[in-house]
Amino acid sequence: MAGDAGPDVADEAARIAWLSDQISHHSHLYYNLAAPELSDIEFDTLWDELKALDPSNLQLSIVGADVDPGSEKVVHLFPMRSLDKATSDEEIQHFAIETALGAEQFLSQPKLDGSALSLEYRLGRLVRAATRGNGDRGEDVTRNARRIQNVPENLGIEVDAHIRGEVVMSLSTFEEKYREVSPNPRNLAAGALRQKNLEAGKADAADLVFQAYDVRFPSKEVRHPNAVEPPHEENDSMLLEWLQKTGIEVAPWEVHDGAESMCTSTLDWSAKRESHRFEIDGVVFKVDDLRKRQLLGMTAHHPRWALAWKFPPDIAETVLLGIDWQTGRTGVITPVARLAPQMVGGVTVENATLHNVGELERLSIKIGDKVRLVRRGDVIPKVEAVMGKATKKDLQDRIHADGTPFTGVLPPSSVPDIPQTCPDCQGPVELDGAFLRCNDLSCTARTVRSLIYWCQALEMDGIGEKLAEQLDDSGLVRSIPDLYSLTMEQLSGLDRMAEKSASNVLSEISATRSLSLSRFLHALGMPGIGPELAASLSQEIGTLKELLTLVKQWSDGDESALNRLVSIDGVGAKVAEQFYGGLSIRSELVDDLSKAIEITTEGTAPVGGVLAGKSFCVTGSLSRGRKEIQLSIKAAGGKIVTSVSGNLDYLIAGENAGSKLSKAQSLGVEVLDESGLEKLMGSSTSDAPPRTLFDY
Ligand code: IVH
Repeated sequence: MAGDAGPDVADEAARIAWLSDQISHHSHLYYNLAAPELSDIEFDTLWDELKALDPSNLQLSIVGADVDPGSEKVVHLFPMRSLDKATSDEEIQHFAIETALGAEQFLSQPKLDGSALSLEYRLGRLVRAATRGNGDRGEDVTRNARRIQNVPENLGIEVDAHIRGEVVMSLSTFEEKYREVSPNPRNLAAGALRQKNLEAGKADAADLVFQAYDVRFPSKEVRHPNAVEPPHEENDSMLLEWLQKTGIEVAPWEVHDGAESMCTSTLDWSAKRESHRFEIDGVVFKVDDLRKRQLLGMTAHHPRWALAWKFPPDIAETVLLGIDWQTGRTGVITPVARLAPQMVGGVTVENATLHNVGELERLSIKIGDKVRLVRRGDVIPKVEAVMGKATKKDLQDRIHADGTPFTGVLPPSSVPDIPQTCPDCQGPVELDGAFLRCNDLSCTARTVRSLIYWCQALEMDGIGEKLAEQLDDSGLVRSIPDLYSLTMEQLSGLDRMAEKSASNVLSEISATRSLSLSRFLHALGMPGIGPELAASLSQEIGTLKELLTLVKQWSDGDESALNRLVSIDGVGAKVAEQFYGGLSIRSELVDDLSKAIEITTEGTAPVGGVLAGKSFCVTGSLSRGRKEIQLSIKAAGGKIVTSVSGNLDYLIAGENAGSKLSKAQSLGVEVLDESGLEKLMGSSTSDAPPRTLFDY
C-alpha cells in the first residue's frame, strides 16, 4: 500500500483514528477530485479493518461525493445574522455604555470583506459547509470548502461544532493570479465557493483562506451521542483560543475594557488597513461575556451584542461626460450618468444612475462638471455632489475597467436636455413630479422589461434579459401573451439556443398556463402592486371577471368600486386608484392574456390558513414594510390588531419595539421576530430538508 502503514494494531484507538483519517482523505481524492492514490482493493482493506475495529465509526457513514456546490439548500441550525452598523465614535460609546447591559469586556476583530461560511463538524470531522444565504438558509458548498487549505478535515477532538468565519483571498494572491479576472477578491471568494467545476474566470477555492470569528455548539439533544462535551467557557475570547487549538485559523482579535480602547482600535485598524493580508471594511466589536450575549439576544436582523464599525466611504472624483436615458418597465425614464472611468472602492465605475429628473435639478448638475462619486461598502456607487466645472486635467491618466487608456475628451459645459420623447419608442412623454414617463404600453423598452418582470415574478428559470431581448429583436414576442404561442422551431432557431434549452424554456412557460388571480396580478408588474397586495386584493375580489367589472365601474366614476378596495385592511384610496388605473391602461394586455392562459379563482379568505384564529400585533422596525408583513399574516388567515392585550396571541417585534414589547412581555404574550413568524407560517420548511448525516 502507498505511504506508511499507520500505527500498530496494538494501539487500537490510534489505529482507529488513523484509519478514519485515511478513509476521509482517500474518499476526498477519489470522489471529489477524481484523483485516487489507492486501488479499490487497498481502499476496501482500510474500510474493512475500520469496520471490524469500530463498526459505528462516523467515517463509515460518510459515503460518496459531496453534492454539487450550490445544488442543495442547508437550513442553518444557528441562523447567520447580519451586524448592526456604525461609523462614529459616539455610536461605539453608545454601544459600549448603553446597549451592552454594562458589559465590562469587549473583543474586536477586523471586519473581513469576503464571503461568510459555516463549517459543520460532527465528532470532529467536517461533514458539511454552507454559505450564509439569507441567514436562515444557505447553500451546500462542502466540496469547495474542502479545497480551502486551512479548513481542517479533522479537529482532533470528537466534538460537534458549527464554526463560522469569512472566506477571503489574500491581496497578494489576488494581485498575482486574479487581478485581470475580477475587480475584487470578495467576488472571487463568493464565486469560488459556489462554482460546480473549476472554471476560467473564477477562482479556485484552493486559493482562498478561512478566517474564523465564531463557534456554536449544538445542544445535547441534537448532537451526536458519542460527541464529547463542548468547552464551557465564560468568554468568547476563550472560545476563540480553544478554536485555535483545534487547528482552526481565527481572525486576529483584541480584548478591550471599554469604549476608549475600542475607539483607539478603529484608528489602529485604519492605519493597518492597507498593509493587512486581506481586504477589510471595518472593525467588529462584540461583548465578550457569553452570558450577557444570551441576555441581549437578537433582533430579526442582527445580534444586540455586536457592532460593526465601518471605515468611512470611498470617495472619488470624476467627470460627467453625458447622460443616457433609459425607459423602465413602468415607463419611468431614468437618467444614467456616463462618467470618465474612475476607481472607487475597488471597482472601476463608468456609469451611475441619477435616479430621476428631480435628482438632476437637486444636484444642479451640468454635463462637463466634476462630480463626487461615493461608494459605501457593498452599495452601488452614487453621484453625490457636483464640484464645479471640470478641466482637461481632470480627465488625465484615466483607465477603463479592461485596462485600456481612456481617450475621451471634455464635453462643453451644458445643462442636460430632458428628453421630449421616449428614448426608446419616440412616443410622447409626461413629467409627473420628479419623474419623466413614457405612457405608451407598446414601447419596446417597456415590453421587454415587463416580459422580464413577468418571467421573474413567476419564477421561470432560463428567461433573463438576454433571451427577452432576443425574443423581442426577432419579432417573436412583442408582448407577454406571445410567449404562450412560441414553438420549439421558433425557439431553437434563435442564436445560441440549443434544443435542450429551448425545450426547458417551453416547459417553464407551460407551467404558467394556469395562474391564480393573485399571481397573475403580481406578475403584471403594475407600479405599487407587489405580491402581498396582489394577494389581498385578489382575496377580496375573487375572479378576473369581477375585477374587470370593478375596473369598468371605476372608470365610469362609480364610487363603490373604490370603496370596495378601501375596505381591505392596508389599502388606501391612493393604492386603489393606482390599481384600477394600472389595470385600465393594461386592459388590452389583460384581455389578450386571459385568452392565452387560464386565470383561476382566488381561494376565499383562508379560514383554514396556517395562522387562522390567531391574532397578531406588529411593532418596531422590520426588514420588510409593516404593511407588507400585516398583509402576509392576513393572507395566511391571521387577524391583525393594533394594540397589545392579554388576549393577543403573538407580538411580532422588530428593532426598537418599545412599549408594546415590554407590555407583551409583562402580559406573557408570545413575542416573535421576523424569522419566528416565517417559521410559524411554515415558509422556512417549504424546501427539501437539509442534508445531514444524522437527523437533528
Ligand atoms: S461576527 C451574528 N466577525 O460581516 C453575526 N462577522 O455584516 C456574527 N464578518 O455576515 C458575525 N468579519 O460574514 C463577525 N470578524 C467578524 C467578521 C464578520 C466579517 C461578516 C460576517 C457577517 C457580516 C455582517
